[in-house]
Amino acid sequence: MLKKPVEDILVRQIEREAYSSNLYLSMASWAETNGFGGVSEWMYAQAEEEKIHLLKFMKYVNERGGKAVIPAVEQPPAEFANVEEIFEQTLEHERFVSESINEIVGVCLDEKDFTTHNWIQWFVNEQIEEEASVTNIIDKLKLLNGQNLYLFDRDVVGMRGAIPGSQQ
Ligand code: FEO
Repeated sequence: MLKKPVEDILVRQIEREAYSSNLYLSMASWAETNGFGGVSEWMYAQAEEEKIHLLKFMKYVNERGGKAVIPAVEQPPAEFANVEEIFEQTLEHERFVSESINEIVGVCLDEKDFTTHNWIQWFVNEQIEEEASVTNIIDKLKLLNGQNLYLFDRDVVGMRGAIPGSQQ
């Protein structure tokens, strides 16, 4: 049985994963309507991953005797200046999510919920990968300095999960 503070912060994370999914769908839509088919594909795939994260939280809360409440979700931004801004905002958002996951770890330790502490480690590792993957893309965009975005758009889907130096 989950203790209330643990349940509450896990339910809060359901809303954050839902927002993440919608944010990336919004970016996918912007990219798709601005000629960036590859970026759009990257964002659609990212939105799907966030939906999977949401489902992991839901199922865990329900399995452990809590109740996963489906939240209202704030509308994400619909307009972006350019591709660079999209990935900068993605990194900023992923850093926010990492902080949010760290807060869950903190509550698990405060409540001595070592089962949930063990379970949440998957997300701790996932956030390391997500931040590294987006940082890698931003590094490539900096190299391009606004040039050759056609080639970037063609290749960006292949950069999903391809992190230099990563073990995966
Ligand atoms: Fe669910 Fe991108 O963190």
